[in-house]
Amino acid sequence: KLKVSVLISGRGSNLQALIDACRAPDFPAEIVMVVSNRPDAQGLFRAQAAGISTAVIEPRDFPDKVSFDRAMTEILESSGTGFICLAGFMRLLSPEFVDHWRDRMINIHPSLLPLFPGLDTHRRALDAGMRLHGCSVHFVRHEMDSGPIIGQAAVAVLDGDDPDSLSSRVLEAEHLLYPWCLELVARGMVTVTGDTCRIAGHTTALSP
Ligand code: GAR
Repeated sequence: KLKVSVLISGRGSNLQALIDACRAPDFPAEIVMVVSNRPDAQGLFRAQAAGISTAVIEPRDFPDKVSFDRAMTEILESSGTGFICLAGFMRLLSPEFVDHWRDRMINIHPSLLPLFPGLDTHRRALDAGMRLHGCSVHFVRHEMDSGPIIGQAAVAVLDGDDPDSLSSRVLEAEHLLYPWCLELVARGMVTVTGDTCRIAGHTTALSP
């Protein structure tokens, strides 16, 4: 099985979706560690409840981003991590870290990238008058919320939606999309060529 670590900063609902998916005996990945940059991340309890090792690594204990990121790589490699899932990890990663884990690190983002990278995606989608919104799972590149897209799930924007109602429907889609994309990668069905992905025998759009 692919040995995966999940990096979080908060609630960890996507972590939970990955934990639940990994429980299926034929799922091709296992979570070996959960790492948080915040000691109060709720997701740490989810990991502990599932019997997964956790590590907290706080930026304030390091002089700069590069040394923080190096320490994180050390922790990850000591646990046998071969692949990283970012799941609400709200910290920009150094180019060195991104290069080290190139094509071995994916992220979930609450928009149909390349639209709306960054924060506050649901409000921005509403303000732009979008009728479709959703989420994306992609390999991580230097620029924030960019990189080859593995899969996307689309969610209709409904009349009367506000950022909260829209985000809760997108979140449900995230919980389906993330395990599905991880499974495709772990089964070796995803080939990255430069800045795009090819998926063997699959469509890359999911409509929950
Ligand atoms: C999720 O909506 C995820 O897509 C988003 O943070 C939330 C984390 O929720 N990530 C980003 O915005 C990354 N740019 P969770 O902790 O419950 O999984």
